[in-house]
Amino acid sequence: MTADEAVTFIELSLKERSLSRVEQSVFLGVWQGLSYSEIAKQTGYDAGYIKLVSHKLWHLLTETFGEKVTKSTVQNVIRRQIQKKLADSPTTVPNLQGSASSYQDWGEVVDVTFFYGRKSELEILDQWIDRDRCRLIALLGMGGLGKTALSVKLAQQLQEKFDFVVWRSLNNAKTPSEMLVAVIHFLSHQRETPETTDTNALISRLMEYLQRYRCLLVLDNFESVLRDEAQAGAYRKDYEGYGSLLRRIGEVSHRSCVVITSREMPEEVATLEGDILPVRALLLTGLDESAAEHVLEAKGVKAMADDLHRLVDWYRGNPLALKIAATSIKDLYSGSINRFLEQKTIIFSGIANLIEQQYQRLTAHEKQIMIWLAINREPVQPNELRSDIVPMIEQNYLMMSLRSLKRRSLVEHSAAGFTQQPVVMEFVTNLLVDQIYQEITQEHPLGALPSIQLKLNRQLFYLRHLSGAEKSEKRC
Ligand SMILES: Nc1ncnc2c1ncn2[C@@H]1O[C@H](COP(=O)(O)OP(=O)(O)OP(=O)(O)O)[C@@H](O)[C@H]1O
Ligand SMILES: [Mg+2]
Repeated sequence: MTADEAVTFIELSLKERSLSRVEQSVFLGVWQGLSYSEIAKQTGYDAGYIKLVSHKLWHLLTETFGEKVTKSTVQNVIRRQIQKKLADSPTTVPNLQGSASSYQDWGEVVDVTFFYGRKSELEILDQWIDRDRCRLIALLGMGGLGKTALSVKLAQQLQEKFDFVVWRSLNNAKTPSEMLVAVIHFLSHQRETPETTDTNALISRLMEYLQRYRCLLVLDNFESVLRDEAQAGAYRKDYEGYGSLLRRIGEVSHRSCVVITSREMPEEVATLEGDILPVRALLLTGLDESAAEHVLEAKGVKAMADDLHRLVDWYRGNPLALKIAATSIKDLYSGSINRFLEQKTIIFSGIANLIEQQYQRLTAHEKQIMIWLAINREPVQPNELRSDIVPMIEQNYLMMSLRSLKRRSLVEHSAAGFTQQPVVMEFVTNLLVDQIYQEITQEHPLGALPSIQLKLNRQLFYLRHLSGAEKSEKRC
C-alpha cells in the first residue's frame, strides 16, 4: 500500500473533517520513516509545531479507528483497519489493481482533429490539474468560443495521467441520478449499478470512487441543466442535484478532477473558486490571429494580414463565428474578407441563431439592459445605465442582472464600464429596430417610449447604419 492510498483511506474514514495540508505532510513524512525534525525541515515549519500537529493527529486517528495510534504504530493500525473494512464491506469500491492503467469513456465526443492554438490555455489547465490538483474547473465563455473543443483536447492530452477518463455532454441532459448511475457503473467496471435514485446517496458513492482513483470527469454544456429566464446559475427543476454534485466535488477532498464547460457560471463555482483554491474558472477568450488564420484556411479562405486582423477583432476570435463568416466570405464575396467587412450589415446566418438562443434565456430585466447597452454602444457605467432605463430598475437588480449577463458572456466589463461584443450588439440593435418598426406600424406612438426616443435621436444614425438598408427603407 502506498502512502497516498493510506491518506485516501483516512480521508474516507474521517467523519467531521478532512486532513489539513500540514497533517498530510506529517502523516506522509512519518510513513516514509522521517523524524519530526526532518519533517519540519522539509515542510519549513517549526519542529515544535510539527510535534504539536502530530500529537493531535494521532489523537484524531485513535478516536476514528478506536485503537491507539502513535508514530510507531500508525502503519500497522492503518493496514489492519483497511483489512477490516474490506472484510466488513463487500460493497467497498472494487479494487482495480492489476487492471490496465487508464479506462476511458468518451461518450459522444466531438472530433478535434482540426484544432489550432490554445497553447497557453492548455498549459494553464495542465498546471491547475496536474500541479495544483484542482478538484473542479469551469471553462466558461459565450457560444461558439471553443469550450467543448478545448475540453476534448485537454482530456486527450491528460488521459495518461488518470486512472479513468469520462467525457459526457449534458445536452439533452439526463437527470442527475441517471447520469450518476451511468458514471458509477463505468467507474466500477460495470460491477455496480446502484438501485437508489437518491441523488445525495449517489453523489456520496461517486465521491468514494473519486477519492480512491484519479478520475477525469468532463461534463460538457453544463448550461443545459441551468434554467432559462432566471438569474444565471440557477438550476432547472429536477436538475438541482447537479448543483449539489458541484458543491461536493469542490468542497470535499479527493484525488480526481471534474471539468465543466458552460456558457454560464454555476453559482457553486462562483462561490468556491479562487486563485489558490482547488476550484478554478477559466474565462476563455477567442483564438489568436495565427490560430484564426488556420481556421479560415481550413475553410478555404486565405487572409491578408490586415484583413485577418480586422476579421479576428470583429468576431473577437470566436472560432464558430469565424467559421460561419468564412463560409459567407467564400460563397458571397469570392473569398474577399475586405468586401465582406465593407458590408456593414453582418451576415447573421448561424451566429444570429446562436445569439438568439442565448437571448431567449434572459429575464425581462436582462433583456432591457441588453437593449440599453446596444443603444449606448460605448462602454457605460452602471449608474449611467440605470438612469437610461425606463421604468427605473432597482440598483441591486441592475447589478444582479449585469453579473448574470457577464456570466452568460453576453456583456463585457472593463474599467470603462459594461458593453457588448460587436456581434452581440449588432444582434440586439436589429432586434430593437424590429421592435420600433412594429410599434410604428401598429400605430403605437413612439412617445410611449419617451427615453428611448430621446436616445434614439442621438443614435438613429448608428441604427440606420448598422441595421441595413432594408430596415431603413421600411422606416422611411
Ligand atoms: N482551437 C480551435 N481550432 C479550430 N477549431 C475550433 C477551435 N475551437 C473551436 N473550434 C471550432 O469552433 C466551433 C465551436 O467550438 P465549440 O463547439 O467547442 O464551442 P463552444 O464554446 O463549446 O460552444 P457552445 O457554447 O455552443 O457549446 C466548432 O466547430 C469547433 O470545432
Ligand atoms: Mg460546447
